[in-house]
Amino acid sequence: MIVGTDTRLIAPHGGELVDRSGERPDDLDSLETLTLSSRELSDLDMLASGALSPLQGFMGQEDYESVLESMRLASGLPWALPVCLAAVLAPKGDRVALADKEGRTYGVLDIEEVYEYDKGREAQQSFRTTDVAHPGVASMYDQPDLYVAGRVTVFERVTSPFSELALDPADTRAAFAERGWRRVVGFQTRNPIHRAHEYLTKVALETVDGLLIHPLIGETKSDDVPSATRVECYRVLIDGYYPDDRVVLGAFPAAMRYAGPREAIWHAICRKNYGCSHFIVGRDHAGVGDYYGTYDAQLIFDDFEPHELDVEPMFFEHSFFCRRCGSMASAKTCPHGMDDHVFLSGTKVREMLGAGELPPEEFSRPEVAEVLISAYHR
Ligand code: ADX
Repeated sequence: MIVGTDTRLIAPHGGELVDRSGERPDDLDSLETLTLSSRELSDLDMLASGALSPLQGFMGQEDYESVLESMRLASGLPWALPVCLAAVLAPKGDRVALADKEGRTYGVLDIEEVYEYDKGREAQQSFRTTDVAHPGVASMYDQPDLYVAGRVTVFERVTSPFSELALDPADTRAAFAERGWRRVVGFQTRNPIHRAHEYLTKVALETVDGLLIHPLIGETKSDDVPSATRVECYRVLIDGYYPDDRVVLGAFPAAMRYAGPREAIWHAICRKNYGCSHFIVGRDHAGVGDYYGTYDAQLIFDDFEPHELDVEPMFFEHSFFCRRCGSMASAKTCPHGMDDHVFLSGTKVREMLGAGELPPEEFSRPEVAEVLISAYHR
């Protein structure tokens, strides 16, 4: 079934919002079951909701090769990262049940193809490195050696830990349409929102109708702040510092790949499906360690023709608070030196929060810091 879309909003990627939800099939109990990793389960849920439109299932080899090689599906439509389902053995039948590690079944996949893939090549193309210290590379290397491809039908959605934030693309589109928005900027984050993030979202919001704060709540690496704590931070921040009628807070069910530049493209395309005409890309978007240059995730947008992606990236330089300017700024807008800039390393911030100390207000809103401090001491 294809879900209709409001014509004032940006069209979904490929033109139509895919809906792969369906009925629980009668033959379910007789099917072989594939157990999905947490990343695959997030992808399955996004296939169901249309967040990955135009994909209707896990990728076949032609799309997979084309995505790795040229960041486009076989049809030529831009797509930056593989969305694949790995298995140890080729299933015997032509349909498999898809379950989580606890054995709960969410959907079925009608097998179109089973193929071998080259992990080194996928790592190099997707992550620009084959280093197993990279968390995305490590989890891909841990996968079984075959990909099973085909359309999915999902009869049980993954239960969101934050039910009121569980907004599908059709829901965010309806929310934007109801508010009369046309130009909407999406903000991806896997961190608590500090002053720099707040600055980007507000500067972006100045030029569009509305803002979708869209924290990723799928799997992240173990030293990232857990999503439950982050969601509490987003709530206090939005309550205290954003106009209610200009912001929608929704959860993005994806897992982090930490693929930096390619993930920035992928994130932008997904947010287009949620109805965002614009997407924020700041410093080292979706990066980890020092695998990517600070602005690589912006430069990669040059690999596409103008309007090929349709969704418009909004690029931001590294932002900070400048004491002499008395405001947030970046090298583009502030002439002062490092001594005037409030800079705290992640390690320093963690130390302060762990010691129950509030970081300076120029770095983080006290309400956000309080949530983080109490999470440290829980
Ligand atoms: S990410 O993995 O989701 O990119 P994070 O939540 O830290 O990590 O970043 C969310 C967005 O804010 C990304 O687009 C990132 O580039 C941007 N960003 C984070 N901190 C800054 C900063 N100080 N200056 C400019 N952009 C930033």
